[in-house]
Amino acid sequence: MLEIDVLTIFPDLFTPFLEAAFVGSAQEQEAARIGVHDLREWTEDRHRSVDDSPYGGGPGMVMTPEPLIPAIESLAGPKGPDRVGRVVYLTPQGEPLSQGKLLEMAQGPPILLVCGRYEGIDQRVLDLAVDEEVSIGDYVLSGGEIPAMVLIEGLVRLLPGVLGNPESIETESFRGGDFLEGPQYTRPPIYRGLEVPLVLRSGNHAAIEEWHREHALARTRARRPDLLDRAGGSGFSSSEIGGSKPNEKVRPGDRVEN
Ligand code: ADE
Repeated sequence: MLEIDVLTIFPDLFTPFLEAAFVGSAQEQEAARIGVHDLREWTEDRHRSVDDSPYGGGPGMVMTPEPLIPAIESLAGPKGPDRVGRVVYLTPQGEPLSQGKLLEMAQGPPILLVCGRYEGIDQRVLDLAVDEEVSIGDYVLSGGEIPAMVLIEGLVRLLPGVLGNPESIETESFRGGDFLEGPQYTRPPIYRGLEVPLVLRSGNHAAIEEWHREHALARTRARRPDLLDRAGGSGFSSSEIGGSKPNEKVRPGDRVEN
């Protein structure tokens, strides 16, 4: 079972997300348990404060060690070899999230996601209570709540049976995010003059598979050549990666040739 706890000052933000679609059904199927905790429950002062102005000046507020450290320790235990789970702080300063990181986290111990707000959290929280820092990309949001949801969604959909079709995980982006997916089509066969490539309607499974591989590779080469540098174990041979099969200078919405 995937076990995730979230520590936040905006627990209500998670309510619709946790009830919706497959995150909700994963919990109903008991494939996942996701608990959301209000950081203010660990405050002891009258104002239930969680932040203060930064030493040395500067804009904004910084989240204080109290109540954060007691909250983390009560949910995940003290930092150290006896801690069972992993405590992850969401921050633009963290390790970039990738499909490989999600696969690794999905197989690991229970996760406590710590969401910051304001300008950040006191460094001593990171030193004394956090195990790792994760970023969802090179941009700055106002808090870790949306990044936490990104992580949860990425993890829950890896659970067997949650997407309904266990195969979709295997084929998409050729697993670990090494490749972009190529074009997909559904009915009708012709729409506003644009036709679904014949091979996809041929019933020839080997040819269809080959078509998907070629287009995934071409799209990756055109849009994300950086991914091909780490394409080891992808199922593509090095000559395929270096080759020039379909010519993809395609942008979203462009016409795709047969
Ligand atoms: N908090 C604010 N911005 C973030 C980002 N890009 N990734 C993770 N946590 C964040």
